[in-house]
Amino acid sequence: MCGIIGIVGTQPVADRLVDGLRRMEYRGYDSAGICTLHDGQLVRRRAQGKLANLVTEVAANPASGTSGIAHTRWATHGAPTQNNAHPHATGEVALVHNGIIENFRSLRQELEARGRVFESETDTEVVAHLVSEQVEAGKSPQDAVKAVLPQLRGAFALAIAFRQHPDLLIGARLGSPLVVGYGEGETFLGSDALALAPLTQKISYLEEGDWVVITRDGATIYDADNQLVEREITISGASAVAIEKGNYRHFMQKEIFEQPTVVAQTLSSYVRPLEQKVALPQIDFDISAINRVTIVACGTSYYAGMVAKYWFEQFARVPVDIDFASEFRYREPVLEKGGLALFISQSGETADTLAALRHCKAEGQTIAVVVNVPTSSMAREADLLLPTHAGPEIGVASTKAFTCQLAVLAALAAHFAARKGRIDAAEEAEIVRYLLEAPACLNGALQHDDEIAAMAHLIAPARDVLYLGRGPDFPLALEGALKLKEISYIHAEGYAAGEMKHGPIALIDEAVPVIVLAPSGPLFEKTVSNMQEVRARGGQIVLISDAQGLEEAGEGCMATIEMPKVHPLIAPLVYAVPVQLLAYHTACVKGTDVDQPRNLAKSVTVE
Ligand code: F6R
Repeated sequence: MCGIIGIVGTQPVADRLVDGLRRMEYRGYDSAGICTLHDGQLVRRRAQGKLANLVTEVAANPASGTSGIAHTRWATHGAPTQNNAHPHATGEVALVHNGIIENFRSLRQELEARGRVFESETDTEVVAHLVSEQVEAGKSPQDAVKAVLPQLRGAFALAIAFRQHPDLLIGARLGSPLVVGYGEGETFLGSDALALAPLTQKISYLEEGDWVVITRDGATIYDADNQLVEREITISGASAVAIEKGNYRHFMQKEIFEQPTVVAQTLSSYVRPLEQKVALPQIDFDISAINRVTIVACGTSYYAGMVAKYWFEQFARVPVDIDFASEFRYREPVLEKGGLALFISQSGETADTLAALRHCKAEGQTIAVVVNVPTSSMAREADLLLPTHAGPEIGVASTKAFTCQLAVLAALAAHFAARKGRIDAAEEAEIVRYLLEAPACLNGALQHDDEIAAMAHLIAPARDVLYLGRGPDFPLALEGALKLKEISYIHAEGYAAGEMKHGPIALIDEAVPVIVLAPSGPLFEKTVSNMQEVRARGGQIVLISDAQGLEEAGEGCMATIEMPKVHPLIAPLVYAVPVQLLAYHTACVKGTDVDQPRNLAKSVTVE
């Protein structure tokens, strides 16, 4: 979603604000802007499109000042134009916003009736006018904000600058994350610790409803009832180095290649190789008493959840429901006592997933989260935090977070099974052994990068692509299609291989490549039969399998990709690599913007 940064400092801030935006550009790149405070003026620079345009604008028209705010936008209300770019300003205040002000229409009507003139189509501008009205009526910045926050419905993180008060900024959060950073004679606001990494490691996370006044000397934090509160200052582990591309062409490519390392890193927290046991963080509830698991997530994280459903049911014999977070609350799900609600999210901030988590908590479910950002809202609201150790994921298309989620979920399913007495020590040891093989197998899969890059030329001209898989590889088919759609803009569908004959087979002709994910194993022959149905209708097949599978069924395919021979348990991790690489190289052939695909943003903090 949008990225926010604010600095009250002693040195010129414009370049540092822009640098902060660079670190958050993955959150949104429809427009960017800064506003500094200088000589009693709000000095605003904004540009439509990528941050590079703002850099050019600021170079041509420098913005002086030692305090300021900045924003990178993912458009919700109003087209991605310069007029709709943040900061939004009135005579007295400028502000940046992440989230949605749901009651902005009625607020805008009231403001217009009072004679306020709007220059944008955004929901955000109403907040600028509301605060400005209060300031113009003689209120202090603090009192102005205090008067306005209760009028806002929806989700927001705000950073507000006041023309006549260059020595302070006010931030507020409700539903969207905001952190305070503490420097030497400087204080910062940011959407996340990563944005502030080069500026400070000392971070406080604002809680729901908090608002904060920052000055050079520090921060004064109030809760939703305007009571002064302390929020712990933690040392963020966010590194300035971690968001460099290194020798890779794109973040996505780097993150795909990091998978053997980060999966190993993640597994090291969840398995004890010597004892051949899975090991979870301290659990304060009796896992063997859990009688049902409800998994909720969005996008790629949802597909990780789909794979986990197979594992939980197969190993632990626990019934599992799974929902898209955006659908979950609205279908009034039946949540029985004794259930575990499991949320999967890279960012830990996705609005739909977070809202579902709060719903389940209110319904008395035990809450477990698998998240990559251990300081995120979901992490902080969970009974059981299961972090993935993928490191910051900057490419908008999720890759390494997915395989790390799978590693954690496999360990969790095995732990459930062991605690429920569904597997014995020897079976647990076997699962641990297979999991520990995953990093090497991921490495093996990455060795096929060159062939996949060559094959991408066959896929790039296609208008539609189908992905087929069975069992736990069916979610992989969905994930492969999602990856291709989002970064190459080719229409793609994932199907359960056996389901294709019930409709989508009508789409098959020689112009529609069909990617078949079929590791040799118990489901191989069935998947191959479905593949033959495609071939019989002139379909062009790319078969992804191991040497044995390719030997048995590779003949006559348009192309094949050989994967290492792996146990079915870790096949979803390993087969993630070729679908990621195929999407990546196809996007490169098409020349699309791999790391910042159109219309998308990382971390969707609006419903
Ligand atoms: C796809 C992708 C998205 C995310 C989804 C959920 O490549 O990245 O589909 O998986 O927006 O985000 P998180 O996992 O942060 O909740």
